[in-house]
Amino acid sequence: MAQIRDQWTSRAGFILAAVGSAIGLGNIWRYPYTVYEHGGGAFLIPYFVALLTAGIPLLLLEYAMGHKNRGSAPLAYHKLSKKWEWLGWWQAVVAFLISSYYVIILAWAMSYTWYSVGTQWGQDTEKFFLDQYLGVAQTNGFWDFGGLQLSVVIPLVIIWAFIYFVMRQQAHKGIERLTRIVMPVLLVLMVIITLRGVTLEGATTGLNALLTPDFGALMDPNVWVAAYGQVFFSLSVGFATMITYASYLKKTDDLANSGLICALANSGFEFMAALGVFGALGFLAVQSGVDVQEVVGGGIGLAFIVFPKIISQLPWLNSLFGVIFFGTLVIAGLTSIVSLVEPVVSAVRDKLGLARTTAVNWICGISFLISILYATKGGINYLDLVDHFVNTYGLLFGTILMTLVTAWFTRKVGDLQNHINEVSDVHIGNWWIFCVKYMTPVMLIIITGVHIWEEWL
Ligand code: PFF
Repeated sequence: MAQIRDQWTSRAGFILAAVGSAIGLGNIWRYPYTVYEHGGGAFLIPYFVALLTAGIPLLLLEYAMGHKNRGSAPLAYHKLSKKWEWLGWWQAVVAFLISSYYVIILAWAMSYTWYSVGTQWGQDTEKFFLDQYLGVAQTNGFWDFGGLQLSVVIPLVIIWAFIYFVMRQQAHKGIERLTRIVMPVLLVLMVIITLRGVTLEGATTGLNALLTPDFGALMDPNVWVAAYGQVFFSLSVGFATMITYASYLKKTDDLANSGLICALANSGFEFMAALGVFGALGFLAVQSGVDVQEVVGGGIGLAFIVFPKIISQLPWLNSLFGVIFFGTLVIAGLTSIVSLVEPVVSAVRDKLGLARTTAVNWICGISFLISILYATKGGINYLDLVDHFVNTYGLLFGTILMTLVTAWFTRKVGDLQNHINEVSDVHIGNWWIFCVKYMTPVMLIIITGVHIWEEWL
């Protein structure tokens, strides 16, 4: 059954949805510790190299694919060449797998918004987190599923109900309206967090730790892997999302401008988050009389173990700042999680001609069931494992092939460049072709090679 494609109400609606997708947990908790662990200020060099030579070029590539071919990822690849439709499915599946655990972290953030009231986590925030969520204290290893963690299941159900409610509606009524309401609020909340972070006593210690460059780190290939990984995850590039979102634009809407705005907004936001977070870490380090290095926990720990400690020690209004911090994570994550589910919904609809509601029922239903697995005691082991494989191999393999297919196997990159230039004010020059054809694949192949070497050999 032929169906009418969803359409954003305006280009501004698209930009908001794209920025909403980009700004998420990746910016607020992932970026700060990634910078810190990979050379501090010096990380900004590989980060900008990755942004300029791969992030922005591939973002524009995805926009062009979706906009020109007017389809979700599998359909867009199919229109390049039938042979490559599977690559679109590959990227959609990567997005799908990420959605089912991304939502778990959102569920944690939601319950921490509640625990912030009266700082219910007590003194030992690590024990609190492990007991509440990971069930690690009680598990006997990898296969132990000893029951569901209600503290995750309840917020999980609320979040899925919300996602379902948003996604049942056409993109301009659901996703676009959500981002129109949420993005201005998010900006205000982030400014509050940053100002609070950088004005705390001891903040400069944290900022120094963040920004003092360790140039030796530039020689470490893992730092480059981290920079590319961060840029892709944070900009939502390589997951079929931007192909899908661009396919909902009007035929004449500007692409290049939108891409630049999106990249600028995303990087600006994550830099702001890093300043706020490190100001607060400096405060904790000074309060505890230790080095900043000792208070930075990796990944999950930073937001859910270290931040509660900081919030408990704030001089005033700690409950309120707790609610603001974790509430911001929830809000930022909601506009991203819908963008992880939408490419799958859109792909299935394009393939089978399903009504939106039918596709949403199935996709949300299945992803919900998978996410329940992670909410069992010991489920965290799977979360970690899937995160690692999907985010490194699934993503890198997909993005390498994306460049090879468009630039080499189907030789459509010139057409895509013309397409961007036909609709855009800003002219995209041959630097773009150079990046998509040579620079990005070569860098990504080297990075993946080094990664495989270090992990397996
Ligand atoms: N960009 C989001 C973040 O920074 O949290 C995560 C994300 C959303 C990744 C959508 C990929 C995607 F397709």
